[in-house]
Amino acid sequence: MKNIAILCSGGDVSGMNPAIKHFVEYSLKRGLTPYFVYDGYEGLIDNNITKASYKDVSGIINRGGTQIGSARSKRFMQPEFRKIAKENLDALNIHMLVVLGGDGSFRGLDIFYKEHGVQFCGVPSTIDNDINGTHYCLGVDTALNIIKTSIDAIRDTASSFKRAFVIETMGRDCGYLALISAITSGAELCLIPEIAYDLQSYEENFKEQIKNGRRYFIAIVSEGIKQDSQEIADWFEENIGIESRVSVLGHIQRGGNPTIYDRLMAYKFVTYAINGLLEGKDESVICYSKSGFEYKSIEEVTAHKYKLDLELVNFL
Ligand code: F6P
Repeated sequence: MKNIAILCSGGDVSGMNPAIKHFVEYSLKRGLTPYFVYDGYEGLIDNNITKASYKDVSGIINRGGTQIGSARSKRFMQPEFRKIAKENLDALNIHMLVVLGGDGSFRGLDIFYKEHGVQFCGVPSTIDNDINGTHYCLGVDTALNIIKTSIDAIRDTASSFKRAFVIETMGRDCGYLALISAITSGAELCLIPEIAYDLQSYEENFKEQIKNGRRYFIAIVSEGIKQDSQEIADWFEENIGIESRVSVLGHIQRGGNPTIYDRLMAYKFVTYAINGLLEGKDESVICYSKSGFEYKSIEEVTAHKYKLDLELVNFL
């Protein structure tokens, strides 16, 4: 029997647990022995690797986070720790890895492959949806749904009080979460790092809207914009003349019960990852676009920065 391992690296997402469950079940179905590596690359270095069975994954499909932990490993950036990681894998006769993570995690993996030849397939997993080459990353749908529920709740109180709410989403340098949330929540203002903005250009229109009876404003801002959310709220108070509050959604966006879409995508991504490894694909990332699933080389995925589809802005 061939051995195969799975690990999660970087920010966790809802959808990792369904992926882990399917990894175990599908590996066994394909005649492989599945292993868990705990706490990302840290677990590879510390030999925190165990054989997995059906029992380990029962009752986790509905849970956010990751049963096997995740980490951002600084040590894995150093060759001496990657050498230890390889020795640990060799001792267990593991030569195939499925890695759930973002492009930073894949970059580390690429170096590992070039040095030591451990065959891997990356599954794009980040709520930021900022991996070049794939239109979808695991966890995004759940995060968007959490944001939607939060905005809907905030709208209730915003409209009761005649207030502007500045709601900050995660996404690092990528405005995807903020943009999609703003479109689908009918927000009055959306600010994202990819698009330069001038608050002054909104002033006349917003004041006019208040005169015509508007009671509240919803502004969705991405964490990566040049100003902090409190400055936007201050602008509403001082320049638009409406009381304002800030709501930073923070890490609630990373947790929660995975949506049906993320559960299904987790199963599909993992099936393709394991199939790819068994077919001999050695350093690939399984990407998803309108035309379906496609294996891309790690170079292709990491060579460019993800570009947001700015046509989406037309829907604002
Ligand atoms: O990459 C996912 C993400 O949630 C980003 O949106 C955010 O900027 C970052 O991780 C937060 O990282 P941490 O959990 O280490 O605070």
